[in-house]
Amino acid sequence: MTDKKQITFRIRRFDPDTDSAPHWDSYTLNVPDGMTVLEALHQIKAEREPTLAWRSSCRMGVCGSCGMYINNFPMLACQTQVLHLETNVVTVAPLPNYENVKDLVPNLEPLIEKHAAVKPFIIHPNANEVDEPTGEFIQTPEEREAFSQFTYCIKCGLCLAACPMMATDPYFLGPQALAQAYRYTADNRDCGLKDRLIAIDAFHGPYQCHIAGACSMACPKGVDPALAIQLLKRTLVLDSIGFGKKPSKVVRVMPLADVVKQIDEFAPPPRTA
Ligand code: SF4
Ligand code: FES
Repeated sequence: MTDKKQITFRIRRFDPDTDSAPHWDSYTLNVPDGMTVLEALHQIKAEREPTLAWRSSCRMGVCGSCGMYINNFPMLACQTQVLHLETNVVTVAPLPNYENVKDLVPNLEPLIEKHAAVKPFIIHPNANEVDEPTGEFIQTPEEREAFSQFTYCIKCGLCLAACPMMATDPYFLGPQALAQAYRYTADNRDCGLKDRLIAIDAFHGPYQCHIAGACSMACPKGVDPALAIQLLKRTLVLDSIGFGKKPSKVVRVMPLADVVKQIDEFAPPPRTA
């Protein structure tokens, strides 16, 4: 049995139906080693405050829904162990730079709308080939590496909460959407930069970024959106990868039925004793 430590959680509460302004409530728990902030919230809700509201799902840092402002830093509650914070008082507030729906629940709609605005999907001149492929768009390891780290984004929105530019310009597309604009533009299967221009080559686009780098510090998946934004700026200014791109070619591969037939006909070597 591990020792427990007494920790006070100061939680920002707000109910739009009854409160004119947010207030703070405190709850003290005996926290064992390994307990996450999300687990502490569940315990507080079960034992003390059934109306406490937040958003979470997977509990394993995958769905991106439990972003909160923990001790004044945007973090995933399910990935943050209370005792690793090394303090007796843990403050938990909703993510800044978003409208507060209730208690710890931010309105993530702007994040999703900005993401959708940059057309985050492969745009290829041969749309039929994308919808009903007859083969593969082959990628070399180097071509994949050009955008690989930006694919790890789980749309948690922590980067927008950390971004000082978002705090002054709510229309700024923000690090998440701009990183995804670069992720697809840098993909050798994509020729969609021209379709994305209306969203990204605009006043609230990448030039608003003044490279604070707070987004990259906050990202729980190791994505570097600040880097993506600078690479996107370079692409727009120097036309390094975007406009003159040739569509990648389709490589015919063995039909699936033949692959299955080969697997069915494969006879494993006899077992040895
Ligand atoms: S870039 Fe990182 S912090 Fe931003 S939404 Fe994606 S996973 Fe979250
Ligand atoms: S609950 Fe899914 S990332 Fe935290």
